[in-house]
Amino acid sequence: MTPPINPPWIAVEDYRQGAGWVNLEECEGRSLRCCELLERGKILLFREPPFDLPDEDRKFLLVQEWTELRLHKNVSYRPSEDVLKGVSGSPQTIARLRSIFRNYSAAVIDFMGKFLRPYAGKCTVDFSSFRPFEEERRGLPLHKRNDLLHVDAFPSRPTHGGRILRVFTNLNPTRARVWNTTEPFEALARRYASDAGLERIARESWVRRRVEDWAGKLGWRGMGRSPYDIFMLGFHDYLKENTDFQKGCPKIRLEFPPLATWLVLTDGVAHAVMSGQYALEQTFLVPPQALVEPDQAPYRILEKLAGQPLVC
Ligand code: SIN
Ligand code: FE
Repeated sequence: MTPPINPPWIAVEDYRQGAGWVNLEECEGRSLRCCELLERGKILLFREPPFDLPDEDRKFLLVQEWTELRLHKNVSYRPSEDVLKGVSGSPQTIARLRSIFRNYSAAVIDFMGKFLRPYAGKCTVDFSSFRPFEEERRGLPLHKRNDLLHVDAFPSRPTHGGRILRVFTNLNPTRARVWNTTEPFEALARRYASDAGLERIARESWVRRRVEDWAGKLGWRGMGRSPYDIFMLGFHDYLKENTDFQKGCPKIRLEFPPLATWLVLTDGVAHAVMSGQYALEQTFLVPPQALVEPDQAPYRILEKLAGQPLVC
């Protein structure tokens, strides 16, 4: 029998937008505890955004004709370059969207520095995105489908064992964003990592590492992946392709109400979005040195299973 899964989310009641931590004397300890919970696979939930998100910006995002404006699966923004991707439109619309994203990203980065102090100054700020399309029955190709349970891995941004931390906000004023999750990463890895090629990738890693080092030095795209990154990219696809897993695994349904904001390490928490429209999201990469529970990291779990290092 499958053991029951503990509820994967925890509401944070003692940190608020503007005020920050309610009890300043306890904030170091609470901040550390929140990092531990995230690294152990919990989702941290705020009933309202814990950072400034002006009403007029939210409304602007909701009223756009996204079917006309969109070019890609989602609209994305690269904070480090101030570049908006995946959207077409008038120069005024693009400029306004870029400024909304710029302010949103800055507000989330500021919040993260105060809320998750152990990570402050150590994370890489990755992309942010806006997801303006209804997720139910989106009809995307299999590996791009968001409604199949998966763990995240980015083909163009290998993490070398670093963790993928995402901050989501449901901008929909009336409808929840609905997710499914399932068992913890370790249980999934124990059951499926071998079938997904863990030992083969670990075996090939020595030769591959040398080739990729050279390719990385020559600036070839997608190179510079560690065996861990190669496994995780494959694991993302493997889980989506595995119909028995998708149908048979235990599922927990999570309904994130309008304006809820949630933080989750999506490389360790398998997730699928079942329905919902209009989510805003900022991603961070947390390097292995910044982790407060390194033994909980997927790369450590996989290294134990493989019996050898997967990260150079
Ligand atoms: C994802 O699978 O990373 C997307 C989740 C979402 O858009 O809610
Ligand atoms: Fe995902």
